[in-house]
Amino acid sequence: VKDLSPLRFVLIGCSKVARKHAVALGRITDARLVGVCDTNAERAESFGREYGVPHFTDKTRLFESVPCDAVIISTPSGDHAVRALDMVQHGKHIIVEKPMALRLEDADAVIRACDEAGVKLFVVKQNRYNRPIQAMRRALDEGRFGKLVLGSVRVFWCRPQEYFTEAPWRGTWALDGGVLTNQASHHIDMLEWFMGDVESVSAMCATRLLKIETEDVGVATLRFKNGALGVIEATTATRPKDLEGSITILGEKGTVQVGGFAMDKLVTWSFAEPRPEDSQLLQTHSENPKDFAWNHEEYLRGVIASIRTGQKALVDGLEGRKSLELINALYESAETGREVALRFRPKVCRLGMKNVGHG
Ligand SMILES: NC(=O)c1ccc[n+]([C@@H]2O[C@H](COP(=O)([O-])OP(=O)(O)OC[C@H]3O[C@@H](n4cnc5c(N)ncnc54)[C@H](O)[C@@H]3O)[C@@H](O)[C@H]2O)c1
Repeated sequence: VKDLSPLRFVLIGCSKVARKHAVALGRITDARLVGVCDTNAERAESFGREYGVPHFTDKTRLFESVPCDAVIISTPSGDHAVRALDMVQHGKHIIVEKPMALRLEDADAVIRACDEAGVKLFVVKQNRYNRPIQAMRRALDEGRFGKLVLGSVRVFWCRPQEYFTEAPWRGTWALDGGVLTNQASHHIDMLEWFMGDVESVSAMCATRLLKIETEDVGVATLRFKNGALGVIEATTATRPKDLEGSITILGEKGTVQVGGFAMDKLVTWSFAEPRPEDSQLLQTHSENPKDFAWNHEEYLRGVIASIRTGQKALVDGLEGRKSLELINALYESAETGREVALRFRPKVCRLGMKNVGHG
């Protein structure tokens, strides 16, 4: 007999992004936010009040007080793996914000621990659900691009210094990484999702405007296993305001560009063999609905379907690991000045390491 009561979620880390989860859960009939926890008492309290759920500063008290089925981890990135390994012991399904960890060995430990405990692991990559992205993915799956030539992503975003000073974990090697790990991680994930496995990367990073340990601008060229090439351009030092977050896929039979602020607007849809359904698609899939947290909601619906039916999620632990491996490889290349082949084990990449500072 199916248990029809809604799945109960708790949030660990009453962060900026946690609001999206709270709002999204409020819109899903088969889900309920039942408690929140933040080590900062004020944040826990105001968040709990706002969403009308019990709040805690200590996760043991949380688990003693509110029964739940799944945990959403939205603490600083460098805390994700520690937190996930801790939560596994409570036997809950785990939804971890991107990136799932900073170091590859930590990601592997989390995947293994979840497998051994028999809990599901999901990594939040809500942009995969963007309407134009979904349309482009269908075109790819239907072979409409033909042989792939080039995939390119651009993240020209503005993050002022205050963004980093208001949360000191941001922009550090130990807890965040730079634009490649944080802001561009969605785009990097998307590039690999469309273009396939990466063979090798060459990257350069610099810190131009922001006073942070990590890079505020990074560029990379990629060679994919299928022979196509890729380009990444990313910066949080776009001034005076955000410009774009885009992905362009070019193949022998077509070109699609999804732009807007966060890969949420169809800019170009051009195929050598057009189809009658294209015109309708341009109306229905050219933009995301405007609601706050719309794609977090879509993402969580996918999580719930996977928990309910056992079907594979769009972004499970292994899928989340892919872009992390790629990001580690980008840093390895930037630091050594050499092309780095995947799969690989980092030797000098500083991401996730404590006390490595600037330079
Ligand atoms: N999917 C997305 O589009 C998206 C968007 C923004 C941020 N993120 C990710 O979400 C995470 C949070 O980012 P943010 O900028 O919203 O964070 P934030 O700085 O706004 O908040 C982090 C919160 O975690 C709390 N915290 C720290 N350690 C804790 C612990 N051990 N237990 C409980 N709470 C703890 C802090 O007190 C703070 O309230 C990051 O990993 C980031 O990469 C994802």
